[in-house]
Amino acid sequence: MIDLHCHILPGVDDGPSDIYESIYMAHHAIEDGIHTIVATPHALGGTYPNPRQKIIKDVAALRERFLSEKIPLSLYPGSEVHICPDMAKRILAGEAAFLDENEHYILIEFPFQSIPPGFKNELFQLKLNRVTPIIAHPERNPMIHHEQGVLYDLVTMGCLIQVTSTSLTGGFGEDTMICAQKLLSLRLAHTIASDAHSAAQRPPSLSLAVEVATDILKDKGKALEMVDNRPKDILAGKPVDPPVAIRPEKKKRFFFF
Ligand SMILES: [Fe+2]
Repeated sequence: MIDLHCHILPGVDDGPSDIYESIYMAHHAIEDGIHTIVATPHALGGTYPNPRQKIIKDVAALRERFLSEKIPLSLYPGSEVHICPDMAKRILAGEAAFLDENEHYILIEFPFQSIPPGFKNELFQLKLNRVTPIIAHPERNPMIHHEQGVLYDLVTMGCLIQVTSTSLTGGFGEDTMICAQKLLSLRLAHTIASDAHSAAQRPPSLSLAVEVATDILKDKGKALEMVDNRPKDILAGKPVDPPVAIRPEKKKRFFFF
């Protein structure tokens, strides 16, 4: 399996604090069946700016360490872009690390509380420039628990959606789990990633989530696609062919006179 969203670099964000924890995380990933990880530290806006060149350099150093310790895990540079003013412009200027060498895919953190005005337009600017935004863990935003229409619009625009494995398995609470599972059933989720931050509390695990996805999709091949072939194509910068999304039902509004 391929994990496209993982905070495994030591000392760069709220992920592992030292190299030893990064190595524990790598062993955990391998035991879970993960052979490839894209290191995606927080980047651009927010607390951890992490410029692209720094991420590339840190990934090279951790790769060397894996090699010297004979840890069979492939590691690639990426980032998780925090929303900020001029986000699209800064991404297109090369400030953040893409998920692929061809610079066609960028991981963008979905806001946790609200959806800022202008967010959709920033994503549209990226699409206009042949960059596909992959929206990370929208199921963790309570606004999305009640209304998934905005995600349908983003997917129709050409964005991809990534859900967190722990959301699917219930680790972030029932509302988040129900929402993540609903996104799968509406075909509004395209990849599953760990968003791991540590060796103990939030380790890199995908296998349990694949079992849940298999139950929802009634097809193990389709569930595996979300952690295998689709992430592989993204990593290679190839186009992906997502399933046709189902438009979520609009919430009924009641008026009292
Ligand atoms: Fe993350």
